Amino acid sequence: MLQPGRLFTLLVLALTARLSAAYEDVELVPGRHYKAREVRPVHNLVRKYMRYSTAASSFVDIAHGWTSCGLACNSPDVQDVALNLTWHVDVPLSDGLIGIHTHDKEIVVAWAGTHRYRALLTDMSVMTVPYMGTAGNVHSGFLDSVRGVSKVVESHLRRLMADYPDYMVVFTGHSKGGAEAALGALDLVRRIDGLKPRVRVWTFGEPRLGDIQFANIYNRELGAITYRVTSAADPVVAMPPRFLFDYCHHNLEIWISSAEGDIYVGQNYAECAEDPLASSSVDFYDRSILWHKNYLGLPPPDHAEAEFSW
Ligand SMILES: *[C@@H]1O[C@H](CO)[C@@H](O)[C@H](O)[C@H]1NC(C)=O
Repeated sequence: MLQPGRLFTLLVLALTARLSAAYEDVELVPGRHYKAREVRPVHNLVRKYMRYSTAASSFVDIAHGWTSCGLACNSPDVQDVALNLTWHVDVPLSDGLIGIHTHDKEIVVAWAGTHRYRALLTDMSVMTVPYMGTAGNVHSGFLDSVRGVSKVVESHLRRLMADYPDYMVVFTGHSKGGAEAALGALDLVRRIDGLKPRVRVWTFGEPRLGDIQFANIYNRELGAITYRVTSAADPVVAMPPRFLFDYCHHNLEIWISSAEGDIYVGQNYAECAEDPLASSSVDFYDRSILWHKNYLGLPPPDHAEAEFSW
């Protein structure tokens, strides 16, 4: 079979992602397919971080703790996290949480998704704006959402990093929350000394976040410790489309290619040719929102049911 991406093999970034030994000893090599049974530890991480993302999207509030967000807050993973901060901001829209997982030695920063998927395409915020004086440009809506809360997130994170010096810091989120998690992580590693070696980014169903130059900047900083998980035929990961403002995904894609949980690890080739064997191998018209709501059997909260049509 002719595989166009293979023509670029020589140009592949020398990028091998290794899940830190502090997690599970699984190596994920770009360009490789894995059977579900080979990557059970990766599935466990996907489920764990998806649960945090779901909890963040369920508007958990620190005043009421884990009783305030229904089913999404009932799992042991989530209950083991001590909330340190929750935020709920209407304009620009952002919700999320920071928590401490003592057993797993993690500081979790989880960003909420949205049920307004159409807005990813139709809002004015889909226009890109320059990213921090670089050549890169990002989705202005995501940038506004992150900037709106970055001061408070930064100050809590600084104190927590000092109080828990041997803990990893995990940024995570589903859908719009995934885009904000990645953007928030990039912003904060540039502002907080010592964050970069401790950070991991796990996103689920993340839409495209910025243009080619931005993807290059992101890949240099965080591409090797970011797990951009995509589910089979999720349409949101194909938005906004490539032709609009040069939108391009960042690395590293963990494509769950089957309902059983087989995985293909994808990465960009030169000039942001997104890996043709990963989720971009799925035709847009074969995609279904059901896949956006199903990451290894874990759905985001019920409000995500509403409002998706073209
Ligand atoms: C959040 O963490 C900081 C740093 O450890 C601590 O001083 C503060 O009391 C915590 N806040 C809550 C609400 O747990």
